[in-house]
Amino acid sequence: MPWSGRSDHEELDEEIDGFEERRRCPSFRTRSRRWARTRCPLQVHSTSNNADVYLTVLKVGLAAGILWLISSRRGQLIVHTLAPASNGRESQITFRDRTGSRSNAIPKPTVELVYPSTKLHEDAPQTKTSKMAEGEPIRVVVTGAAGQIAYSLISMIANGDVFGKNQSVILHLLDIPPAMGVLEGVCMEIDDLALPLVKGYVKTTEPEVAFKDVDAAFLVGAMPRREGMERKDLLSANVKIFKVQGEALNKYAKKDVKVLVVGNPANTNALICSFYAPSIPKENFTAMTRLDQNRAQSAIAKRLGLCVSNVKNVTIWGNHSSTQFPDVFNALVESSNSSKSVYDSINDSQWLEGDFIKTIQTRGAAVIQARKMSSAMSAAKAAVDHMRDWWSGTPNGAWVSMGVISDGSYGVPKDLIYSLPVSISNKQWKIVQGLKITDFAKTKLDLTAKELLEEKEEAMAVCNA
Ligand SMILES: NC(=O)c1ccc[n+]([C@@H]2O[C@H](COP(=O)([O-])OP(=O)(O)OC[C@H]3O[C@@H](n4cnc5c(N)ncnc54)[C@H](O)[C@@H]3O)[C@@H](O)[C@H]2O)c1
Repeated sequence: MPWSGRSDHEELDEEIDGFEERRRCPSFRTRSRRWARTRCPLQVHSTSNNADVYLTVLKVGLAAGILWLISSRRGQLIVHTLAPASNGRESQITFRDRTGSRSNAIPKPTVELVYPSTKLHEDAPQTKTSKMAEGEPIRVVVTGAAGQIAYSLISMIANGDVFGKNQSVILHLLDIPPAMGVLEGVCMEIDDLALPLVKGYVKTTEPEVAFKDVDAAFLVGAMPRREGMERKDLLSANVKIFKVQGEALNKYAKKDVKVLVVGNPANTNALICSFYAPSIPKENFTAMTRLDQNRAQSAIAKRLGLCVSNVKNVTIWGNHSSTQFPDVFNALVESSNSSKSVYDSINDSQWLEGDFIKTIQTRGAAVIQARKMSSAMSAAKAAVDHMRDWWSGTPNGAWVSMGVISDGSYGVPKDLIYSLPVSISNKQWKIVQGLKITDFAKTKLDLTAKELLEEKEEAMAVCNA
């Protein structure tokens, strides 16, 4: 076609204007309907000189669309089809899965997604990991899934940072109804992470759905501490949540579920949770003090100008609160060819028994003051560290701090969830025995135990009210 001297846009505008005028004319609408009845659907009525080009483009487009439809349907998990009943009188709904097998059972009402097509994963660069994934996926619940800690935590679980790069997971995500919109966005992002270890997720507001058959539980959801708020203020609000969740764990979770309580007051919440889940061993309920351990380890490394990996066996005793006792008396500074006591390396007992302890005890409050929100990124990483070590074990001679049920070791009253040094193998933790406790340390251990006893009493009163 000769060039008319006008731009493509001008020609196109004119054509559209002409069409719009004709469309408004009643006789054109009648002609169009007649045309639609008498002509093949692949034919197009066009007044343009470009009719041949448009026709070709339309045919190719239609063919591609049909092909796309066929291929995308093959990948769908559930195809709902209406099939006539065999008696011919009433219709019945049949559900087909992607293998083609039929069922009349109504699928579970929870929102569960299993990735629609394995093709996505076959094409992904992580193919190797995907193919290495062994056995059944484990079910992992994260409560408070729409919150800020969960936002970091979920991606690390999905990436294999907790249960290993060969362990696939189905994520159970629990939050309260007002948070469902945000959680929807989190789920979109889980899809978009395109991580091969995630075999599905369940998004719910119901504890009985969230805790069904779970192997591991991150209990993060709670009201967070705000500026100026002491942990005790949170106790009565949050303890009720953990009573409900303990009951749900008791009824619906696997009996060997590993529970990590992050939501504050973490120690007492874990105790309450365990109390209301009597069918699950008490040893399976733990509270997170790993963030305090990481903070202490980092502060020591910074003071010595070393890497955190050179600092080993820092212990947090007691409550995840300002009464906790971060203890480096038995901690070591290690390099490839030497091992030395942290105490001797720092050689400043005034700092170690003064500012250092105070800084770690009040670090949470300092982060809140600066960020106007409580620690999230570091809390998520600590939760990952805690559960990973519980799942995979600690190296020989090393220990970590976990809030666990006390058995009288180190003079700590029994049946508190108290942070202690533990070593782990075969997914079982054991309190490290025989560490030297100085008189200074003993007063600190007693102080934090006293706080936990008070919290326990208050919490039981709230639950029994
Ligand atoms: N142990 C630790 O070291 C440590 C460190 C940092 C924060 N925390 C605690 O972790 C908790 C979560 O902190 P965050 O910053 O993620 O708070 P956040 O407010 O961002 O998120 C909390 C989430 O929990 C949800 N939630 C509230 N009630 C719930 C319920 N009954 N069931 C399920 N979900 C519920 C909320 O809707 C929200 O989405 C807080 O209690 C905080 O104090 C503990």
